[in-house]
Amino acid sequence: MTQVLTVGVGADLVERFTEASGGDLVTLGVEALDAEGGLLARIAEAGGPHVVVLGPAVPLERAFVLAGHVDVAAPGTSVAVVAPADPDLWVAAMRAGVRDVLAADASTSDAAAVLGRAADLARARWEAGQAAGGARPEHRVVVVTSPKGGVGKTTVATNLAVGLARSGAGSTVIVDLDVQFGDVASALALAPEYSLPDTVHGAASNDPLVLKTFLTRHPSGLYVVAGSESPAAGDAVTAEQVGRLVETLSHEFRYVVIDTAPGLSDHTLMALEKATDLVLMSSMDVPGVRGLRKELDVLQELNLVPPGRHLVLNMADSAGALSMADVETTVGVPLDVVLPRTTAVPLSTNTGAPLLESGSRDAVARGLQTLLGRLLPDAGPRRSGLLGRLRAGSR
Ligand SMILES: Nc1ncnc2c1ncn2[C@@H]1O[C@H](COP(=O)(O)OP(=O)(O)OP(=O)(O)O)[C@@H](O)[C@H]1O
Ligand SMILES: [Mg+2]
Repeated sequence: MTQVLTVGVGADLVERFTEASGGDLVTLGVEALDAEGGLLARIAEAGGPHVVVLGPAVPLERAFVLAGHVDVAAPGTSVAVVAPADPDLWVAAMRAGVRDVLAADASTSDAAAVLGRAADLARARWEAGQAAGGARPEHRVVVVTSPKGGVGKTTVATNLAVGLARSGAGSTVIVDLDVQFGDVASALALAPEYSLPDTVHGAASNDPLVLKTFLTRHPSGLYVVAGSESPAAGDAVTAEQVGRLVETLSHEFRYVVIDTAPGLSDHTLMALEKATDLVLMSSMDVPGVRGLRKELDVLQELNLVPPGRHLVLNMADSAGALSMADVETTVGVPLDVVLPRTTAVPLSTNTGAPLLESGSRDAVARGLQTLLGRLLPDAGPRRSGLLGRLRAGSR
């Protein structure tokens, strides 16, 4: 990259800039402005110099217009004009986007000062661009777990994933980490060509582009890493491979939703290491609720409770032996979402049509929307208090 590009500048001043830049400059006549592409093309050819000096051979009005163009199209390059030291002209020049005005008889140190300011500005703009470009939207890895089986993990994971994919908040992938008996594909009525083991071997394991070709697409736009076809093939997938897969997916997708097998397998623990959110579930019975408390304790001991923690009680049933107060006392912390038992859920499971896909008005669908809201950007204040949530669910 050249430091200085001069256009229509007199020999003396070119000499000063040559000294100030250590000879790192390109010198052009004013006719270069009329060549194809104009000044912006010359700036690109010079590799984006820190400063363009427009000499007396470039009329000031034209210099001001050019400065405006450069300010917009090449923000890393400052424009300096050679003009008499007139305060009014200075103000007009600055307004036009000129960064420096210097006299035709400027010294080498004047030239060096112009160069220094331009370099500082170029660096500041570059850093600001990096910060803006580098601030990627928050990526979330959501792990759905429960100590016991059959409590609705797959139901919740598939609905959340479809809801996120349809929300427009960002690309979403669901991973079936129930490595032996995963049924995410069935819950989404998909017949996948590839499954989990394909995504952790060979080129897919180290090339995100290849990995994407092994994912299955759901009509909602959701990507799916389907569970393995046989328990043996699933067992052959190691926790380390799962860790790498989740890591890669979390860079490629805004949301990674992970369905798991009951309990805390090595795969689930590995997923939790990468998680930003834990959806911990239980059904409304004594063993389930006690298990929930125990799992929470274990995860806290292991330091594996991620920043987003969402406790979900499923199949809530006021006719059962347990009251909500019993459940909250046993768990020791308030539940975040309560989903009642309804007939719409098994129907949706059996037809492979998630409730959040079909726009169902079922009470479970409304509870799932509440959970979804906790994961979407700019989610409003979280509802707290079990009674309020129950009322919301039963409305
Ligand atoms: N709120 C509910 N009301 C009625 N039925 C439900 C509800 N939630 C889940 N079910 C049903 O319970 C069964 C088990 O649900 P699901 O497969 O989601 O649980 P799981 O925790 O993933 O099970 P597993 O541990 O075997 O993976 C399904 O048939 C589902 O339709
Ligand atoms: Mg399941």
